[in-house]
Amino acid sequence: MSINLESLKGVYDRYPDEWATWKKLVEVVDETAEEFGFRSFNPPTIERQELWTEKEEDSVTDEMYAFTDKGGNNITLIPEQTPTRARLIQKRKDLKTPVKWYDTSKRWRYEDVTKGRDREFLQGDFDIFGIESVEADAEIIAAAATIYQKLGLDNRVKFLINDRALLESILESHGIEKTEETMKVIDDKEKMTEEEFLDDLTERGLSKEDAKQVNDLTDISGPILDNIEDLRSKAPEEVQERVDRMESLGEALESYGVSNMCKFDLSIVRGLAYYTGLVFEAFDSEGELRALFGGGRYDELVGVFGDRDVPAVGFAFGYSPTIELLKKEDMYPLKEIETDVYILTVSKSVRDIGLDYATKLRAEGIAVETDLARRGFGAQLEYADKMNAKRVLIVGERDLENDEVTMKHMDSGEEEEIGKNEVVSHLKSEDLI
Ligand code: HAM
Repeated sequence: MSINLESLKGVYDRYPDEWATWKKLVEVVDETAEEFGFRSFNPPTIERQELWTEKEEDSVTDEMYAFTDKGGNNITLIPEQTPTRARLIQKRKDLKTPVKWYDTSKRWRYEDVTKGRDREFLQGDFDIFGIESVEADAEIIAAAATIYQKLGLDNRVKFLINDRALLESILESHGIEKTEETMKVIDDKEKMTEEEFLDDLTERGLSKEDAKQVNDLTDISGPILDNIEDLRSKAPEEVQERVDRMESLGEALESYGVSNMCKFDLSIVRGLAYYTGLVFEAFDSEGELRALFGGGRYDELVGVFGDRDVPAVGFAFGYSPTIELLKKEDMYPLKEIETDVYILTVSKSVRDIGLDYATKLRAEGIAVETDLARRGFGAQLEYADKMNAKRVLIVGERDLENDEVTMKHMDSGEEEEIGKNEVVSHLKSEDLI
């Protein structure tokens, strides 16, 4: 029987040379999370389906890899981690707030496969539980922005921020009915021309005048603080407090030094049903790629799973679209596979001396490879080059008779003789250790 060697559609075989960049990205995300005091944890990646089906259904419910296991339980591979987190928070009442969690792991959604949208994919979630105030919103957005600053992509990314409850009450106060249907169309506004947007709204039952009104009302977009007055004039009295909150968020984001990346945009809605206020999404500046990450405030989800409410805000970083952005910006690969030192043993007689060097260097934290394949000089050098070795330590009998070994710098091709007992101190002097 011949087995199909291709992976499933939307599921990728990432070999080490490709994975090196992904791994680097995971490191940047993890480093950012730790700098902001988020804690890593390790929740399950299969769950009961009811975590997604008990709450209001949304865009991911239909896309779940859901099945019945041999015990007759209805389970699913997780399409996202937010309900899992809400479950864990509901369960452990003793956790001290704020609870700040981060984690990068796999998710599964049976989606249309496009650039940046896979069926098996990595997400990096950051959430803060137990804090209702705007400070947590600002911290979450600042953490997301910091990832792109670290990648040197802060000029290439825009964060679009909105408050869903504000949008809803602005629409309602202007007499726009069918709010939920309307919200779905508004959510897709970014991807449509004005004509398509107006047509879609009228097809869903809005009058032409109302469709035009929705278009005008959702047109507020730009730096947060510059748009507060416009927003205030459109928002009804009962949600003026939400406008104040948005203003306070804009001020905090200035203090975090990330406001240049952030824009207020009244047309951001998001497909997930559980958001209760703040929502945000990031796109590349030209708006060519799918959303790079998305998040928001979901103060009622934890309460769906038990007897207490816990306010929450968070986002999930999308690795796949961010990799597409790196490619678009000619920044891919971010990193290649590499080895610090390859130990080239000229003949079998010096194999054990080579291994002795390897052990000593590894003890200093250096990544070392040796010849496992009994290859000749040229083939070993070729392999070292392929593995992007920074140095090749050439160990040969003749050199050793003179108490020396040869250190080859792979970037310049330069070689130097060094004392056989000075290998570690030599690498230290070159800052390789
Ligand atoms: P989401 O908007 O469904 O939100 O996903 C967040 C991000 O994950 C997207 O912007 C995208 O970058 C990435 N993503 C989503 N689906 C795929 C896919 N099929 N392939 C590759 N990347 C994908 C959530 O999942 C919420 N749980 C986020 C959240 C956390 N809200 C609060 N805390």
